[in-house]
Amino acid sequence: MNAGIIGIGKYVPKKVLTNVDLEKVLDTSDEWIRTRTGIEARHIAAEDEETSDLAYEAAKNALEHAGMTADQIGLIIVATVTQDQNFPSVACQIQERLGAKQAGAMDISAACSGFIYATVVAKQFVESNSYEHVLIVGVEKLSKVVDWEDRNTAILFGDGASAAVISKVSEGRGILSFELGADGTGGKHLLIDQQNNIQMNGREVFKFAVRQMGESAINVLEKAGLTKEDVDFLVPHQANIRIMEAARERLGLPEDKMSKTIHKYGNTSAASIGISLVDDLQAGYIKDDDVVVLIGFGGGLTWGAIALKWGK
Ligand code: UT7
Repeated sequence: MNAGIIGIGKYVPKKVLTNVDLEKVLDTSDEWIRTRTGIEARHIAAEDEETSDLAYEAAKNALEHAGMTADQIGLIIVATVTQDQNFPSVACQIQERLGAKQAGAMDISAACSGFIYATVVAKQFVESNSYEHVLIVGVEKLSKVVDWEDRNTAILFGDGASAAVISKVSEGRGILSFELGADGTGGKHLLIDQQNNIQMNGREVFKFAVRQMGESAINVLEKAGLTKEDVDFLVPHQANIRIMEAARERLGLPEDKMSKTIHKYGNTSAASIGISLVDDLQAGYIKDDDVVVLIGFGGGLTWGAIALKWGK
């Protein structure tokens, strides 16, 4: 039996920063941001609200959605590049707060591909019968590494968290195939520098993302013995609506078959795919037995994709 997602949760901070707010402090416009990126607003954490706080809230929601208690979790994997400190890890911080007394805990670093990487790592532990239930979290407080004077990046990012419980699901459902990839030669195009600021060559990342998202989606479908026609719903990393649309077109999917939450949250990096899944489920866009393709890309450079059949 395959591992799959049996519960999912999200958390975004209360404060909303709109494009109109940004217009007042940066040489940019609501019109430019909306047409070039699809973003209208993003949520920003309070100063004393840390990455681990966001992670904890999302994890609690995922456990509740799965109908589980924290002591049933065997392992916690947190994907983040904005941890509170180098160590203890965010995974250890939430292990304590959740009361997950049986769980091992670790953080992994795969930037915006973090949700996919964490899910695939969890799948290995579940399918090898090492752990029955693994809790994964994708979380970022990017507002603390954004240079708020750099219009190239300040408009893009938002804070948020998502979490999922990965466990065995019924025959035929769950993760059917996956792909993880990396190209360290492109690391220079997207990074957090020594001053703790995000630096990005937007055009290079854009080109890479358009190419890689399409290719990875096709690859995981082939690995699962599926074709483009089998796809019911696409959940791409919410980085730029133009990148997402390119991936959708590559799969030949109609507009309403792709997740679109970027206008509300901006790019929340490792959290974005999980946040989208929560909203899409609530909206009824994803139903049991739907073939869902998740695709992510990000700093590293890294990328990853998963084809799964939804449902417990
Ligand atoms: O999770 C992964 C994270 N990163 C990404 O996904 C980023 C991928 N890249 C992108 O999304 C896009 O490259 C950006 C949104 C970052 C930029 O869009 P673009 O269409 O590639 O714009 P550009 O960098 O080619 O700039 C076009 C023009 C330039 O002006 P000139 O040279 O044509 O006069 C920029 O200076 O737009 C200008 N510009 C802006 N104008 C208003 C750049 N940023 C802004 C801004 N507001 N915020």
